[in-house]
Amino acid sequence: MNQIRTILTTLAVALFMPCAAQTVQMPSDAITLKSPGDVLQMQFAVVDGVPFYSLRRQSADVLLPSRLGFQLFDRRSLDAGFVLKASSTSTFDETWKPVWGEEAEIRNHYNELFVTLEQPQPANDGQNARQPAVMQVRFRLYDDGLGFRYEFPMKNDLTYFNIKEELTEFALTGDHLAWWIPGDYSTQEFNPTESHLSEVRNLSAAPRRRGGWPNTGFSPTGVQTALQMKTAEGLYINIHEAAVLNYPTTNLNLDDKKFVLSTHLTPDAEGVKGRMQAPCHTPWRSVMVCPSATEVLASRLVLNLNDPCVLDDTSWIHPVKYMGVWWEMITGKSEWSYTNDYPSVQLGKTDYRNSKPHGRHGANTANVKRYIDFAAANGFDGILIEGWNEGWEDWYGHQKDFVFDFITPYPDFDLPELNRYAHEHGIRLIMHHETSSSTLNYERWMEQAYTLMNKYGYNAVKSGYVGKIIPYGDYHYSQPTINHYHYAITEAARHHIMVNAHEAVRPTGLCRTWPNMIGNESAMGTEFRGTIQPGHTTIFPFTRLQGGPMDYTPGIFETDMSVTAPGTTGRMHHTLCNQLGLYVTFYSPLQMAADLPENYARFMDAFQFIKDVAVDWDRSLYLEAEPGAYIITARHPKLSTLNKSAESTAILADAKKDMVTNAARFVYALPDDATAADLRQASPRDVWYVGGITDENAREVRVKLDFLKPGMKYEATIYADAPDADYETNPQAYTITRKTVTSKTVLKLRMARAGGFAVSLRSEK
Ligand code: NOJ
Ligand code: CA
Repeated sequence: MNQIRTILTTLAVALFMPCAAQTVQMPSDAITLKSPGDVLQMQFAVVDGVPFYSLRRQSADVLLPSRLGFQLFDRRSLDAGFVLKASSTSTFDETWKPVWGEEAEIRNHYNELFVTLEQPQPANDGQNARQPAVMQVRFRLYDDGLGFRYEFPMKNDLTYFNIKEELTEFALTGDHLAWWIPGDYSTQEFNPTESHLSEVRNLSAAPRRRGGWPNTGFSPTGVQTALQMKTAEGLYINIHEAAVLNYPTTNLNLDDKKFVLSTHLTPDAEGVKGRMQAPCHTPWRSVMVCPSATEVLASRLVLNLNDPCVLDDTSWIHPVKYMGVWWEMITGKSEWSYTNDYPSVQLGKTDYRNSKPHGRHGANTANVKRYIDFAAANGFDGILIEGWNEGWEDWYGHQKDFVFDFITPYPDFDLPELNRYAHEHGIRLIMHHETSSSTLNYERWMEQAYTLMNKYGYNAVKSGYVGKIIPYGDYHYSQPTINHYHYAITEAARHHIMVNAHEAVRPTGLCRTWPNMIGNESAMGTEFRGTIQPGHTTIFPFTRLQGGPMDYTPGIFETDMSVTAPGTTGRMHHTLCNQLGLYVTFYSPLQMAADLPENYARFMDAFQFIKDVAVDWDRSLYLEAEPGAYIITARHPKLSTLNKSAESTAILADAKKDMVTNAARFVYALPDDATAADLRQASPRDVWYVGGITDENAREVRVKLDFLKPGMKYEATIYADAPDADYETNPQAYTITRKTVTSKTVLKLRMARAGGFAVSLRSEK
């Protein structure tokens, strides 16, 4: 009886369900495309008027037939009634050189399938014949993944149209293990969760309770891109987006019965999910498929799907290693604001000069000079100063439109003098533009703000988007807000300014096209302190960092917050050596040493690694990795950019001319007082850095140094968790060992719970 009922139910579901992906078989005349090395194969077909694609890796299904299309407002949707009009294939193979990156050269090799679909339209009022709606899909198949996007040519019944939803599906083959954060229209500041897909529904509320604000979820099974998954057979599948421009960012909504993920776009304030004007195209949808976790880290699929660099001159763009008047505000040791006199500020009217300072303002001239002295003495490139400008007394939580002007310093921040002082010491100041999410206000002031930066010699800005977006009702990841972030990047490029945006949309490889986009936060970074769980940083290189570097702000040596900011409480969950390992395992051309100078001063021997490490690479090797568990990476510095920040500072009229960064001193084996002239005469050594990080499990690892030049001797400096180190009980216990090694050496290293290690390797000659 039960069996009969089950059969009847199944039949009913099959008969009355809308065309679900798994019920569709690819027809025998489906178009097949193979990747250049015949590793991946995809198929495309129109089945009963609906376009479908599928993906395999060798003999394993990766995606079952998955639907394509759109629901539209005010006209017939692009969800049925299609005929295939044309298809063509081509091959592309190029090797390009990123301005900065994890390697000097990237190969972009794919086979392409381009299909043209037409949806005939009924004649207007039974009279005038209409053109068909034309939707094209461009598929690019690589050996490590698939990218595809929709295109809408000019000759089309669709000219202006508004998207209600994109209907792209990713029909998975089962209940994969996944590393995910909850789907959201406004924030990515969540702890990542490791679980099977079937568990997302029950687990998605917890990260919301301790994540960023504002959070705007839409479904208990919504997750964000990049979504990393692993099949029971050990295949790593990663779904992301590439080149998101003039279009909303998508979430993925999971059908946790059928294991089908569908695009769920971020709406604008009126609920529209994309205002399109042909000719136009969507961003790329990307599906990376790799047989190992280390190959996921090595994949450049998302970057390759982006357009080449559009900037003619990139000579002004350089890697940046920086410190900042920042952690002291984050921890509560000091404040961004200047006075308690004004709970309500009116910029231009509020009289700060005659107000009573509360005495806890971090961005005061004397304190900034202290940071400049420390950073210069240790060979850094820049200092970020937050809270330098008027408006912080009521910046947060009021949805205030005119919240900052980005040009007026507080009375105790001497902007011209501090820039002069910094330049004299070979340092650049990094500008800070917190917008409080009033993109409207930022655009009003942007030209003046960037012009002020140019006038004084700032060439990098950290921007921020805390709070709800103004224009009111809009979201962080909608089409209009995406357009705002992009406007900021292109205007900054016009002013030769590099941008590091916090709380902006997660990156989708656009740094290939606009390499002045040197950083993004767009995930739960170090500022969340005790909320960050062990294992957190072993996930991001697979997810958040797939679209571009993260300003994670590592380097917190003091995990007991009451030491850094007396009167506060809380602990962070890592060892000191774990933080060192992050400089190698997390790629970013913009790296911060985020702790306070006085905390570093207590551990100068361990701080030496942060001083010595480079931040831009010509080779990267992912030695061992597993998301949510551990990562071991080795990197080789790129000589052409090693001292570029110092050179770009030296061209300023008031700057110290002979500045050398400490990383350059390390690679060229120069003494601490070496000058640029010494550097020009010196020969570089062969240098590698190796970093490791682990989750809540201690681990012993063996690192084979077989990537070193055979026959050459290297001095290895090994910064490792001490045998009794532990993130909860003894996070600052480390050992530093120096020894001579060769390409035959195997290092045996132990990482404590939530620990790690870092190794610098420099050839003897
Ligand atoms: C949030 C950013 O992520 C953080 O780095 C910054 O200090 C604050 N906003 C204030 O702008
Ligand atoms: Ca943030």
